[in-house]
Amino acid sequence: MSGPNFVKVCTKDQLAEDTPLLVDLDGTPVSVVLTEGEVFAIYDICSHANVSLAEGEVEDGQIECWLHGSCFDLRTGKPSGPPATRPVPVYPVKIEGDDVLVSLTQES
Ligand code: FES
Repeated sequence: MSGPNFVKVCTKDQLAEDTPLLVDLDGTPVSVVLTEGEVFAIYDICSHANVSLAEGEVEDGQIECWLHGSCFDLRTGKPSGPPATRPVPVYPVKIEGDDVLVSLTQES
């Protein structure tokens, strides 16, 4: 095996700016987010409780958990404030033509 295994999750025109798209990638819920012209993929479940991040707001390169307001950096998955203390996994994204591909190989 060489390199991460990228899988198509959607097309670019399915993504609206700052509106997360929830996809299922081999049983893993992933939020795909287009913001400021860049596409990110982040594990959909908040690290604080079992809440879907796709229902939160996207702003300043972060996605906000709607329940208690922790924001997670879409590049690193790190929370910028409480109550969440643990990061959420983020995944590499590749754009091929109109296709958006995500690899579940976790970025370190
Ligand atoms: S469930 Fe996300 S911050 Fe509490």
